[in-house]
Amino acid sequence: MMDWTLLENAERVAQTTCLRIIDAASEAVAQRGRFSLVLAGGRTPRMSYELLAQQVSDWGRWHLYFGDERCLPADHPERNSLMVAQSLSSMVPIPTAQIHPIPAELGPEQAARRYAETLKAVLPFDLVLLGLGEDGHTASLFPGQNHPRGLSVVPVHNAPKPPPDRVSLSETTLGNCRHLIFVVTGEGKQLAVRRWRRGEDLPASRINPTKGGEILIDRHALP
Ligand code: 6PG
Repeated sequence: MMDWTLLENAERVAQTTCLRIIDAASEAVAQRGRFSLVLAGGRTPRMSYELLAQQVSDWGRWHLYFGDERCLPADHPERNSLMVAQSLSSMVPIPTAQIHPIPAELGPEQAARRYAETLKAVLPFDLVLLGLGEDGHTASLFPGQNHPRGLSVVPVHNAPKPPPDRVSLSETTLGNCRHLIFVVTGEGKQLAVRRWRRGEDLPASRINPTKGGEILIDRHALP
């Protein structure tokens, strides 16, 4: 079950997302001694990451993972790992060994195999962050694209959102978490939100986290 939380604007969504992450981290570290966070790519979550960098001081128990990655060189400006480095991980004293980028520069198939190995020791995640594309995609799971069943991390080709080659955690893997948050802002998402709320079969609506989840959405994205 997903709870929809309506907020005034993108800033309020970012502030609320940051608070939810900090709460989840406190619970995870207190109960299990570590916090595994799956980061969303794209533009929407960047403000939340910048707020985290300002508000969190103890990074010693945090482990950062990625929900998806574009198959581009590791230093390419369009890489999600670079966006996270610029907005968060290069700004805080998190041990490099606790940042787990998807090696998407290896290409979809090899990177998916490698990252599936990485995740074996991690699941379930403590918190998964996801964005929503204008067409209802999330991570790099796009409408109309099917992936081999049983893979925890899938290779993606011909993605409608460039670049065409990507790597993505599967719907099942993304839902294998204690908390899940979608962050959705801006008018460009209205159609996807309308389709989602109407119950259409979209990659975003196929992710059913074991313990429920939350959609943090601003007024501009609500139809
Ligand atoms: C990616 C992202 C993708 C993103 C949505 C929304 O690699 O492109 O993981 O799933 O979350 O496309 O992107 P924006 O936040 O930029 O609107």
